[in-house]
Amino acid sequence: MTKNDSKQIDQAGTKMMQTIREIVRGDRDIFPPFLYEAYKSTIRRAPRMGLVDVPLTISELTGPGPLISAVTPEDADLTRNASQGAEAIGQRIIVTGQVLDEYGGPIPHTLVEVWQANASGRYIHHRDDWPGPLDPNFIGVGRCLTDANGVYRFQTIRPGAYPWKNHQNAWRPAHIHFSVFGQSWLSRLVTQMYFEDDPLFFQDPIFNSVPTEDARHRLIARYDHEVSSPEWALGWRWNIVLKGPQATPFENNREVQK
Ligand SMILES: [Fe+2]
Repeated sequence: MTKNDSKQIDQAGTKMMQTIREIVRGDRDIFPPFLYEAYKSTIRRAPRMGLVDVPLTISELTGPGPLISAVTPEDADLTRNASQGAEAIGQRIIVTGQVLDEYGGPIPHTLVEVWQANASGRYIHHRDDWPGPLDPNFIGVGRCLTDANGVYRFQTIRPGAYPWKNHQNAWRPAHIHFSVFGQSWLSRLVTQMYFEDDPLFFQDPIFNSVPTEDARHRLIARYDHEVSSPEWALGWRWNIVLKGPQATPFENNREVQK
């Protein structure tokens, strides 16, 4: 490594720490707090003391380049990417939107990853053992890169709601988990997208830990008939805004409340 290389890595590290600090000290009207008692697992995992900077290493500053180069168009079709030769069961949907910066500008060539339960509300995960049926043709993960206009697009099936024992008769509203990668592992933002016609928002502490109605509204996809594909799939539209007063609420981004 040349002196110039290490100088560039130092500069990238400084810039990234500034960005992370900005996000961590994020807007109290947008980001959920670390500790939200109605959401029980936050009681155990919320930090009790102020955060400290951890020095960054090269792998943290430069990943995940090779991962991005391996993305294929098939990765964005969750109805078929289990590669079992048959389609997943459920209501076929198209989910699309733009990844935008704080000024409404598109974020091109960015890795967007999704994961979700199947149509019956079940994940393939050893800790998910409630009696919703598994679907051998659905693995529940997908990814794509945004195009030159910052547009992502997935074909999938509409996920089901699932129970999660947070409180009596607790059900998660149907949702799709989203991750957006920046230039490295540390600039990863994670959130959940919901559907506007869901009846379960009122009792979900994850959704309601987002502090304002305006910010919660930004997590909800709208049905869009222009996106629907005739005799094929229903269309849903949802944009992701990375920063600024209209930012999408991301998970666990807010500084500890003292
Ligand atoms: Fe989930």
